[in-house]
Amino acid sequence: MTQKTWAFLGGKQVPDEDAKVGVKTHALHYGTAVFEGIRGNWNERLGKVSIFRLKEHYERLLRGCKILRIELPYSADDLCKITTDLLEKNGFAQDVYIRPLAFKGQELVANLNLNTLDDEFVLVIIPFGAYIDNSRPLRCQTSSWRRPMDSSMPTGVKISGLYTTSILAKTEAIAAGFDEAILLNQDGSVSEGSGENLFMIRDGVISTPGETDNCLLGITRDSVIQLAKDQLGLDVVQRHIHRSELYLADEVFLTGTAAHLTAVGELDNRAIGSGETGPITKQLQDLYFSTVVGDNDNYSDWCTMVTPSGG
Ligand SMILES: Cc1ncc(COP(=O)(O)O)c(C=O)c1O
Repeated sequence: MTQKTWAFLGGKQVPDEDAKVGVKTHALHYGTAVFEGIRGNWNERLGKVSIFRLKEHYERLLRGCKILRIELPYSADDLCKITTDLLEKNGFAQDVYIRPLAFKGQELVANLNLNTLDDEFVLVIIPFGAYIDNSRPLRCQTSSWRRPMDSSMPTGVKISGLYTTSILAKTEAIAAGFDEAILLNQDGSVSEGSGENLFMIRDGVISTPGETDNCLLGITRDSVIQLAKDQLGLDVVQRHIHRSELYLADEVFLTGTAAHLTAVGELDNRAIGSGETGPITKQLQDLYFSTVVGDNDNYSDWCTMVTPSGG
């Protein structure tokens, strides 16, 4: 028998099969929605799911709502509680992906004025394993698609319509036999992966594109910056990065909630360093994985531990 699963829609928990919206929904036609991707990591030793940096995800969601003029009747704390209650109710004793979506729910398609559209919120939770195979370094391709400038589309938050670019880039990379795409900015500097931030290590210095490089301000990115500084004594420099610097880097890695922390072994058929996971990447990977499951006592406040009850 398959277990009954639950979503949150219209202010209450409902069976997944009843969490539906109509075909005229504005967000379906125009991408007028803001979402988050949050991971719950199963900790076998503790018998709990560790939700990584839950409140920070909702703070970013609410920043996106502000830009898209979506008004939710919930604070970040309310959204955290809605999430932990739903996770408990679903009873998943495994890794999960938590997907809240704040959207323009009005059933009117021909209206481009955000101010006159109704707002809705839905939350779903699904069992989730690896998004990308991070047991080996990735083979990446510089995409022919460029990351939009913030002046065309707000890039620091997760607005649904923005993801068309990521989807085109990822699809192109996979079709060409690569694992992942690296997107450049309009000026040719490096922005990020299709769903990950990018870090480069050269001569022991870690660099990553900054906020004005049109990348998403990733929560994993922020965690890695803090872990590198506090646990390894390494500052991360935020600056413009040229494409060719990546070819000459000792190590490159990608970070994201879905992709975790994954080494890049090759870019455009050129090996990065030795082509293997480099020593600093490996150290950060180990720290990151122990932290997200709630096993790094220095960062236990980053993890919301939930015991699955079910029913
Ligand atoms: C375009 C993009 N960049 C970077 C990231 C990484 O962000 P985070 O670490 O908050 O998941 C994501 C993932 O959500 C993303 O979609």
